[in-house]
Amino acid sequence: VPRIVILISGSGSNMVAIADAVKNENMEAEVAAVICNRPEAAGLQKARDRDLPVVVLDHKAFTSREDFDRALMAQIDEFAPDLVVLAGFMRILTADFVAHYHGRMLNIHPSLLPKYQGLNTHQRALDDGESEHGVTVHFVTEELDGGPNVIQAVIAVNDDDDANSLQQRVQLQEHVIYPIAVKWFVEGRLSMIGNHARLDGNVIPATGLQ
Ligand code: GAR
Repeated sequence: VPRIVILISGSGSNMVAIADAVKNENMEAEVAAVICNRPEAAGLQKARDRDLPVVVLDHKAFTSREDFDRALMAQIDEFAPDLVVLAGFMRILTADFVAHYHGRMLNIHPSLLPKYQGLNTHQRALDDGESEHGVTVHFVTEELDGGPNVIQAVIAVNDDDDANSLQQRVQLQEHVIYPIAVKWFVEGRLSMIGNHARLDGNVIPATGLQ
């Protein structure tokens, strides 16, 4: 069965959504490992509670980004994954790392990409007076938050929203769309060809499927 390695840095709620979907929605896949760069991350316990193999690789133990990424790559490859899933993995990745997982690494980003790449996406959407906001699953390429979109969920921004309320509603959608994208990939339906994502051979529009 296709093997998935999930990388996390924080609370791990997307990791949980994917792991639970693999288990409960008869996805023909296996979460081979959860790898985390922060020893204090709350997501570690959630992975252990689910009996998933867990590895902590503290980036602070490395002197350079290149050294950390090389060690991370070696660690990931020990689990021979078909798919690498970035689930709140808050590290900028080197070009070599990204190239190594070309076409087999997904990320989730809390905005309607290409809008609001980078950090503080919810506050920035509010500051701009956006009426819609959301979340995107995309293939990872060398461009930060820039690879081809796979799927987006859109939410309406209400007058009384703040960054916290937006984040909470966006996260509910994250837990819906990320398992869908992972399922497509492990079923062999989702691929990246050139700079496009394809589902069942059809090019996915630049916005991602919505
Ligand atoms: C998620 O909301 C994800 O969209 C965001 O981090 C959170 C991780 O939550 N990712 C980024 O900001 C990537 N730049 P989780 O650990 O509970 O899955």
